[in-house]
Amino acid sequence: TEAITVSELARKMNLKASSLITKLMSMGMMVTINQQIDADTATILAEEFGCKVNVVSLYDETVIEKEQDSEDSLRGRAPVVTIMGHVDHGKTKLLDAIRSANVAEGEFGGITQHIGAYQVNLPQGKITFLDTPGHEAFTLMRARGAQVTDIVVLVVAANDGVMPQTVEAINHAKEAKVPIIVAINKIDLPEANPDRVKQQLSDYGLLPEDWGGSTLFCEVSALKRKGINELLETILLQAELLELKTNYDCRAEGRVLESKIDHGRGSVATVLVQRGTLKIGDPFVAGVYSGKVRAMFDDHGKRVDKAEPSTPVEILGCDGVPEAGDPFQVTENEKLARQVSVKRQELKKLEESKNVKKITLDNLYDSI
Ligand code: GTP
Ligand code: MG
Repeated sequence: TEAITVSELARKMNLKASSLITKLMSMGMMVTINQQIDADTATILAEEFGCKVNVVSLYDETVIEKEQDSEDSLRGRAPVVTIMGHVDHGKTKLLDAIRSANVAEGEFGGITQHIGAYQVNLPQGKITFLDTPGHEAFTLMRARGAQVTDIVVLVVAANDGVMPQTVEAINHAKEAKVPIIVAINKIDLPEANPDRVKQQLSDYGLLPEDWGGSTLFCEVSALKRKGINELLETILLQAELLELKTNYDCRAEGRVLESKIDHGRGSVATVLVQRGTLKIGDPFVAGVYSGKVRAMFDDHGKRVDKAEPSTPVEILGCDGVPEAGDPFQVTENEKLARQVSVKRQELKKLEESKNVKKITLDNLYDSI
């Protein structure tokens, strides 16, 4: 969806805008000097004049130089898990069961959890859960070019079996090439039939190991909090196979999970750090906005001064409210962060006011 005005393209190509307009007319497009043309059109047009177009997208992250990984900067990181499944199959209940299984008694009820993700700590390792169950968050992120999930836990109610949204979730995960762990839920119900679920899922290529497949299955009751530890162990097992490693030493980068304006605190953004370590005072760009990390809070609402990869944190200090899925990047200095933010806001405005009219010769004559 990148675009450029005819006059700006002409300036970049060192040509008169009228030459471009004439050329565009010969290609069947009527445009004015201040009108925008899309990247494809600009590319074709430029080629006509022997120029090459480099398309830079709104959120082009390459404008901020990435730090290289050194051998010893790579360390294992926690898997990031999204829970998906059909309506009422128990996604929320399962997230609650996992959270309470891991939080010390007393601590849980007392803390209002407003962060869109949380991390559980097991002796064998950590797991990050995205607290926005459902396909919307997943597809929204994907649509914005963000891949934050390492593993999908597919919840299927043992009494209900595979339903339309179960299939949808399988397709989303497959498209994103994210491995699926099946959690057969509600096994406490007398009518629960886990074998039927396995049978149904085998039609979608999800075969348990004891049936000759490679998909990891767990049987749980989110209501009775049964099988939760086994599920967590299974997630860690799957994560081990993925060999998730990243740089802990470089400037942080990640994704915005959600953000809002909080009266008294200003802009509050929940960010998932994916690489590097985020620290207080770090200048950053988040979507079209920028800022400096003023304060950070973990998933328990506790103040922290750094956040390592796979950690979700709430940060204060952004000068606007970025969108879910927006890239988050720490920059070398505040000036660069502001520059990138200003440029992106310009590009966004252009995009919003975009008024590209493609008129082919055919319909040009039709309309006369
Ligand atoms: P949506 O967010 O609407 O898509 O539903 P969900 O998948 O989050 O399901 P939710 O966790 O809200 O559970 C739906 C219903 O199933 C609730 O009434 C739960 O109490 C019930 N439920 C969830 N897990 C279990 C379980 O393990 N056993 C039984 N018997 N009921 C369960
Ligand atoms: Mg729910």
